[in-house]
Amino acid sequence: MNHAQRISQLRNSFTDNYQAFLVTSPNNVQYLSGFSGSCGTLLITRQHTIFFTDFRYKEQSVAQIGNVARIVVFKKSLADSLSKEIKKAKITDLGIEKSMRLNLFLAYSEHFKVQLVPVDGLVENLRQIKDADELACLKKAFRIADDSFAELMKVIKPGMRETEVAAHLEFFMKMRGSEDPSFATIIASGPNSSRPHAQVSSRKLKVGEMVKIDFGAVFGGYHSDMTRTVFLGKATAKFKKIYNTVLQAQTKAIEALKVGVVCRKVDAAARKIISDAGYGENFGHGLGHSLGLDVHEAPSLSKRCVDKVAAGMFFTVEPGIYLPGWGGIRIEDTFMVQPNGLLRLTLTPNRLLEIDV
Ligand code: GLY
Ligand code: MN
Ligand code: MN
Repeated sequence: MNHAQRISQLRNSFTDNYQAFLVTSPNNVQYLSGFSGSCGTLLITRQHTIFFTDFRYKEQSVAQIGNVARIVVFKKSLADSLSKEIKKAKITDLGIEKSMRLNLFLAYSEHFKVQLVPVDGLVENLRQIKDADELACLKKAFRIADDSFAELMKVIKPGMRETEVAAHLEFFMKMRGSEDPSFATIIASGPNSSRPHAQVSSRKLKVGEMVKIDFGAVFGGYHSDMTRTVFLGKATAKFKKIYNTVLQAQTKAIEALKVGVVCRKVDAAARKIISDAGYGENFGHGLGHSLGLDVHEAPSLSKRCVDKVAAGMFFTVEPGIYLPGWGGIRIEDTFMVQPNGLLRLTLTPNRLLEIDV
């Protein structure tokens, strides 16, 4: 779908409560228009699309979205320029993203002589179902991640610090075209791995320990996300047992993930395996989430999510068991839901990986 089509889809979802919609979230602006800079606002009326930016992005905006929107390069202030266009278009009620920053909301409430109407998830709902262009970006981001992980497995060794491992992985991804890491790369060794979102430390990797590696690449603005927990040397019986429980939980959840199923049922399928194994209290986060221009998008595969899975949605499936003092194991793979099954985005095998030391 091209950007003009996305904007017309958005117009079709307008209600009578407002005549125009203001888009301030950078990722929503990028989704609708293709503009990828840091200063951009879209005013979408029923007839017109107007884009506001400043001098820094004049050239970029013409190149990226010149055929989608009328571009206004504001000089004095964004609020002034917006005000003028809102008046010109005779808008009395203006839809805004419910997620708008409070300081912006307060400023615009004062500045614009219109009623601001917060709308929840208007653009985000469209973003839940990805099109072919988005799939292509996501596939590329996941390929970069898979290939970089394979390269990391050739160099990772005892004695390396977690920070060094992260630096290697991020370098390998960047060399393959990743625009950024998807999020702060997690390299958690030994007991550090019991923290689901451990921060990288200067701890040195040791033989006979696990390393939890959670990372992603970004391509075309789209994020990949994958976790592997590898073992340095020959895995212990305890590691194998817990790894297999997590893997079985993941397998059951993947079997449950299909068009029409309620999201929380997929979470429940994994949670049952882990609870039955006696580790229910040690799996304290949701099973997974959607991703795209953000690394975490709705809907989620969690206990509370009653949305239904639909074709074109993407989900991570990432059960984990975390035992403070010992460590934690998470396995995370990502899938696109298709009408007749799943497309696996992560191609790195998820079987237990023991690194020769
Ligand atoms: N590290 C982010 C996630 O896996 O959700
Ligand atoms: Mn992850
Ligand atoms: Mn994730």
